[in-house]
Amino acid sequence: MQDTTALVPLPAQDYVPADNPRFVNLHRRFPTVLYLRRHARRHVPRFAFEYMDGGAGADGGIARNWCAFDAVELVPRYGVTTALPPVGVELFGRRYSAPIGVAPMGGPSIVWPGADRHLAAAAQRARVPYVLGLVGGMTLERAAEIAPDVLWFQLYRCSRNEHAIGFDLVRRAEAARVHVLVLTADVPVRTTRPREVAAGITSPFRPDLRMFAGILTSPGYLRSLWKHGQPRFGNLKPYTADTANVDDVAAFVRREMGGAFTWDEVARYRERWKRPLVIKGILHPADAERCVSLGVDGIVVSNHGGRQVEALPAPIDVLPAITRAVGGRATVMLDSGVRSGLDVVRALALGAEAAFAGKAFLWGLGALGAEGPLHVIDLMIEEIKSSLGQIGALRPAQAPAVTVRHPGALHF
Ligand SMILES: Cc1cc2nc3c(=O)[nH]c(=O)nc-3n(C[C@H](O)[C@H](O)[C@H](O)COP(=O)(O)O)c2cc1C
Repeated sequence: MQDTTALVPLPAQDYVPADNPRFVNLHRRFPTVLYLRRHARRHVPRFAFEYMDGGAGADGGIARNWCAFDAVELVPRYGVTTALPPVGVELFGRRYSAPIGVAPMGGPSIVWPGADRHLAAAAQRARVPYVLGLVGGMTLERAAEIAPDVLWFQLYRCSRNEHAIGFDLVRRAEAARVHVLVLTADVPVRTTRPREVAAGITSPFRPDLRMFAGILTSPGYLRSLWKHGQPRFGNLKPYTADTANVDDVAAFVRREMGGAFTWDEVARYRERWKRPLVIKGILHPADAERCVSLGVDGIVVSNHGGRQVEALPAPIDVLPAITRAVGGRATVMLDSGVRSGLDVVRALALGAEAAFAGKAFLWGLGALGAEGPLHVIDLMIEEIKSSLGQIGALRPAQAPAVTVRHPGALHF
């Protein structure tokens, strides 16, 4: 029986990590997300770390995302009383405790067995958006039990048989009371990530001795594997055989998923899904315009965390052009390269209403297991507060008034 008392979220305005002794203790050992990354590298088998941390090509996209954030300067203004109030935001009519959320991720239980559950529980507890990935390890019905107040759901294009599976997932999401549907636009073709491949994550999947040795020498990981079992792909279960193994699921993914959503298809999803609809992976203002014209409610400016193609611009560099193009007609959000609350504030200053992180949460899982995701949220919230306070903004909504130097901004 699940202990639901532990999952009851605090009201958004009451969530203050710094008041919590657990946060204070963890903060001493892991004062930033990058400390978690360093620890995760030693704490999980090599294949798990390479899966969470590796990018396309030689990681050039990841490096660009980080450098682009670092280059954004914020000019402070003084003379205001900054009492560091809570940093809650409203997204699509719902109140969250901070403008940061968990990005959708496929296969997080490769990184840490049971990962989806820990990510969902942490987001529910802190009351921040949690986007369950279609290729995640948990069904959306189960996610809705764990994270009823903060659940969003991400869908890839499943177009066979007139979108039979895609539309069935939309029906299930509606029945599970998912709040926001996110269509991922930026995986038109599959890619391989060299670090993953070199560490043994291949299709077909052929685990080798190094992988077993890695698991056996990572006691925390092994314990969690014992408890939660091997990675599963819960959402896909109704569409695959009951006995499907990892290879069967990979074959299913190859057969059923793929290609970018066309604009006509976006319009069809818009017609079916009556709640907020978000398109993730937009990098060009004209595509953002197109989303708005189709009645999409939000956009996530993203390059998939540098995991698809190295040559894509950093989302923070195209964000101003996209916010200008959207002109307040839809909610603009961002991911890719967010490592701190300061990065979140940089994104807010350049016009985003919220930011999401992917790898940061996986580093937290890799370093601390079940406790990791909440510590990452806590760090981000405390850093968002202190960064806003430092630049003289009282609330997230005041960040766009800050003067910004942004040398990498792309002009279309
Ligand atoms: C291991 C991993 C798996 C991912 N799987 C998905 C996915 O299934 N669907 C999706 O839309 N994005 C996926 N992403 C991309 C994230 O949603 C997000 O765009 C990206 O991680 C943000 O960049 P960051 O990792 O630098 O924060 C994945 C990212 C990682 C790290």
